[in-house]
Amino acid sequence: MTVRIHVPRDAGAVAVGADEVARALWAAADRSNEAVEIVRTGSRGLYWLEPMVEVATAQGRIAFGPVTPGDAPSVFEAMRTGAAHPLKLGIVDEIPWLKRQTRLTFARCGVVDPRSVADYRAHGGYEGLVRALERGSDAILAEVTASSLRGRGGAGFPTGLKWKTVAQTGADQKYIVCNADEGDSGTFADRMIMEGDPFVVIEGMTIAGVAVGATKGYIYIRSEYPHAIAAMEAAIAAAREDGALGPDVCRSGRAFDIEVRVGAGAYVCGEETALLESIEGRRGIVRAKPPLPAHRGLFGKPTVINNVLSFAAVPFILARGAEAYAAFGMGRSRGTMPIQLAGNVKRGGLFEVAFGITLGELVDDVGGGTASGRPVRAVQVGGPLGAYFPRALFDTPFDYEAFAARDGLIGHGGIVVFDDTVDMAKQARFAFAFCALESCGKCTPCRIGSTRGVETVDRIRAGERAADNVALLEDLCQTMKFGSLCALGGFTPYPVMSALKHFPEDFGAAPPRRQAAE
Ligand SMILES: Cc1cc2nc3c(=O)[nH]c(=O)nc-3n(C[C@H](O)[C@H](O)[C@H](O)COP(=O)(O)O)c2cc1C
Ligand code: SF4
Repeated sequence: MTVRIHVPRDAGAVAVGADEVARALWAAADRSNEAVEIVRTGSRGLYWLEPMVEVATAQGRIAFGPVTPGDAPSVFEAMRTGAAHPLKLGIVDEIPWLKRQTRLTFARCGVVDPRSVADYRAHGGYEGLVRALERGSDAILAEVTASSLRGRGGAGFPTGLKWKTVAQTGADQKYIVCNADEGDSGTFADRMIMEGDPFVVIEGMTIAGVAVGATKGYIYIRSEYPHAIAAMEAAIAAAREDGALGPDVCRSGRAFDIEVRVGAGAYVCGEETALLESIEGRRGIVRAKPPLPAHRGLFGKPTVINNVLSFAAVPFILARGAEAYAAFGMGRSRGTMPIQLAGNVKRGGLFEVAFGITLGELVDDVGGGTASGRPVRAVQVGGPLGAYFPRALFDTPFDYEAFAARDGLIGHGGIVVFDDTVDMAKQARFAFAFCALESCGKCTPCRIGSTRGVETVDRIRAGERAADNVALLEDLCQTMKFGSLCALGGFTPYPVMSALKHFPEDFGAAPPRRQAAE
């Protein structure tokens, strides 16, 4: 019988030696007389256990990790014979960290061969598209709207409403754009799904095309993601070959095709209108709205632009129904969120779970606290524009409205953990410095304000007229929040003000608040 081994080809696993482990397993297999097949999959998202390799058995897949090339001969022997091994983690699906998750979007990631359409179909892939093609535009729009899916890129805008707007806008050509710029610090879910289950993204985009009447899609990926680019290119070619993309999608008579566009990696190019400028071949500068991209987007045509995870959620919704998706979650945050745990955390990785889990559960329980073993002092949620939360707010449930009520945001679901050695005034300075570096320069509050912010924090840290400068900082944050054209300048105050509010001791001796001088 063939020994079937799975080794991730995910960039995170490759970075810690998955390619070398695959080669060492091949060498060990060569020395045995066993028939062996090694399938390169995506990652399961348990990054502290990577490279995590699996062997298929009658009981299910058995995992080993973290494996080094030196471990490969003994791991291979344990795989072949079923013997005990110190790196044996047991049946993958029974690993508590995985078992506790609700994997709707990431169900196939780490399971299937990301280069094989056949494997994708064998695991339920394309059921959503088949149903979508049978039922047509209105039914798709109704289903996505009923699922209450909200955009996973950051703003949480209702996906069904966005699609409906494009569907109702008349034009000779419409576009579907997938935002895979993934610039938020501590986030990697887009990369993971593109590398581990690229067909689910393609399927989601194709369903969007059918829903709104678009025949062409673009996926915009940053150049720092070469593995994801390769995975998407290979999957698009395979889908074309299969007939799932091209002039006659799944023999429906409808056309839809996708092109990959590679961005140079500016944070602002993740902002939807700057992204459209970049695809059109110009510098990534934010466009004033209106017009909305849904009315006049790419090349001036009505455009659906969604995050990778928004598209990747859609096939499940079409295949299993809106109710099955909306049954998870809380309040107006329905379904699941692929949460990414990063920074100084013991168990970093991808944890997909229904909305409603608390921040404390995620950090302490799921993440296991800090990697350094020191107490957690702060976590930043939602990328570089997200607020810092102190332990006192760890009862906040993961929910768009609950985070907003505490002056925070969920963003793309990234959580970056810091221990008690963090200097929060330095983090506030970093927020401004990041904004200054990444600003597209179109509007003054962001372009100038970010640099003035760095200078003001520097003065506070140096103890120069601290109370006056704190008042000035607050005033500057108000100006940036309400005067900026996009969320880069508009949300930079969140990390700054949350650091000041929750950790005043880091800004000097909790200076008293005053109005800025006129
Ligand atoms: C500065 C800035 C950077 C952004 N970066 C990203 C990004 O990397 N990925 C993303 O999907 N959305 C990003 N967004 C949000 C997009 O503008 C847009 O809201 C999103 O792509 C819409 O898709 P969704 O509705 O599926 O979330 C960014 C927004 C801003 C202001
Ligand atoms: S807020 Fe910053 S990034 Fe956004 S448009 Fe203004 S200058 Fe550009």
